[in-house]
Amino acid sequence: MKRVLSGIQPTSDSFHLGNYLGAVKQWVELQDGHDAFYCIVDLHALTVETDPALLRKRTLASAAQLLALGISPEKSTLFVQSQVPQHNQLGWIMECMTGFGEASRMTQFKDKSSKAGADSARVGLFTYPMLQAADILLYQAHYVPVGEDQRQHIELTRDLAGRFNSRYGNTFQLPEAYILKTAAKINDIQEPTAKMSKSSGAVAGVIEIMDTPEANLKKIKSAMTDAGREVKYDVAEKPGISNLLTIHSALSGKSIADLENEFEGKGYGDFKSAVAEVVVEYLRPIRAKAVELLEDEEHLLDILHQGSEKARSVAQQTIDATYKNLGVVL
Ligand code: TRP
Repeated sequence: MKRVLSGIQPTSDSFHLGNYLGAVKQWVELQDGHDAFYCIVDLHALTVETDPALLRKRTLASAAQLLALGISPEKSTLFVQSQVPQHNQLGWIMECMTGFGEASRMTQFKDKSSKAGADSARVGLFTYPMLQAADILLYQAHYVPVGEDQRQHIELTRDLAGRFNSRYGNTFQLPEAYILKTAAKINDIQEPTAKMSKSSGAVAGVIEIMDTPEANLKKIKSAMTDAGREVKYDVAEKPGISNLLTIHSALSGKSIADLENEFEGKGYGDFKSAVAEVVVEYLRPIRAKAVELLEDEEHLLDILHQGSEKARSVAQQTIDATYKNLGVVL
């Protein structure tokens, strides 16, 4: 079985519908037929200042939501990055393999550091991609399911793996980016020309998995619609309605064309009520499951500890081979 690895940062109390449809849903699908490793990358979240209580809460909330959304501890290895110290060990080796100029060309680093300003941007932001390379190479992953914005980091990972292999002998599997389909690209429901995102959008435009059914119902009923009155998929003229059609279709499984027929002659109000119903009923059991998992913290920690233990044993084999090939005295 081919191995898959991906990571998600515990940077918010709740995932949103865009995270689920754009990434986690496909992680769930990849569990079948692959040996999947999914990592909550809490060390990566430290590249910006964090509040200790929030980091803890969000790490647990991320785990509970991943499980509630269908990541199964029987099928995949779900673990917390900081519980596997081998990530730091290999991270350092990767830093020593990376050119300063090469790291300076990472577009995510350039964007984030220029936003933060030279004085508040942390060194960890600069070395972030090398830690990410370690995340991937430790598990000898074949595929890395990520969004398009991560392509450059996966390319760097391949370069580093290839460089190490040719200098020190074959040690790492060269991973491939498995770019997640953007078919179900979900936009902000208040600002439907922008991607659904917690960092840029206002809360009213983001459908959160951990929100109460009542709150989500209200949000969707007040979603931004467009001029006209026909429920038609037309991204240029009707970005709001098109986005709601995409959301409905992704969750109900009905095609956009069927939905257009179903709502022919009905107004935006009826359509929004139907979308709200689909979203709320889809998320209701998921939220309930996540809440249940969070109420039994000991059990949740147990699942994570088991995942981390398995991850450590795989990761240690890679560290042994890496150190041996480097000439480290063992
Ligand atoms: N950088 C990724 C993101 O922001 C998160 C991440 C960290 C990751 N380590 C990884 C993704 C390893 C895939 C594989 O989305």
